[in-house]
Amino acid sequence: MEKHSKAEKENTITARSKTASKPSSPIKNKPAVNGNGKLKQDTSLLEEFVLDAIKDIYWAEKHLIKTMPKLNKAATTPELKRVFTDHLAVSEEHVSRLEKVFELMGKKAQAKKCEAMAGITKEAEGIIEETEKGTLTRDVALIMAAQKVEHYEIATYGGLVQITKIMGKGEISGILAQTLAEEKDADHLLTEVAENNINMEAEEEGDGEEKN
Ligand SMILES: [Fe+2]
Repeated sequence: MEKHSKAEKENTITARSKTASKPSSPIKNKPAVNGNGKLKQDTSLLEEFVLDAIKDIYWAEKHLIKTMPKLNKAATTPELKRVFTDHLAVSEEHVSRLEKVFELMGKKAQAKKCEAMAGITKEAEGIIEETEKGTLTRDVALIMAAQKVEHYEIATYGGLVQITKIMGKGEISGILAQTLAEEKDADHLLTEVAENNINMEAEEEGDGEEKN
C-alpha cells in the first residue's frame, strides 16, 4: 500500500518536472559573445547580473551575522557552538570582502534581500522552536540547516568566481574564491562534528524523553 502511494508520488513529481515551464533567466538578453565564443569583457548585462548577485549574497551574509548567535545559543554540544562562533567571525570577514568587491566594481555597497537565505534561516529558527532544548536531535537538525546555508553560499560564490574570471575580473574572482574556500571548510567541519560528536549519540536519544 505504502509502496504504491510512494510510486504514485514519484510519478507525479516526474510528470510535473517534465511539464514545468522553464524558469525565466535573470539575463534578459544573451550576453555579447566574441567570434571565438568567449564573453566580451565589457558585457554590461552580465556585469549587471553579477552586481545583482553580489548585492544578494551581501544581504545573505549580513543576515547570517544576525542569525548565527541564535543558532549558537540553541546548540547543545560545545563542538557545534564553536563552529557557529567561528563562522560568525568568518562571515564578518566575508562581508568586508564583498565591500572590497563593490569598491573594485566602482559601486556603492548595497544589500538586496535574498529570499533564499531568508527562507533557509527562517527554517533554522523553526527548528529551534520544534526541537527540545539540550538534545542532540536539535544539533542534528541545526547542522542540516547550517549545511543548507553553506550549500547556498557555495553555489553562489562558486558561480561568481567562474563568471568574474571569464569577465577578466581576476582580482574580484580571487577575493570571492577565498570566501568560497572558507564556506567549503565550514561545510566539511559541520559534517565532521556531526559524524564525530553527534549523530551516533543522537540516534540513541529516547523517543519522547523529556530533556528540558
Ligand atoms: Fe559566508
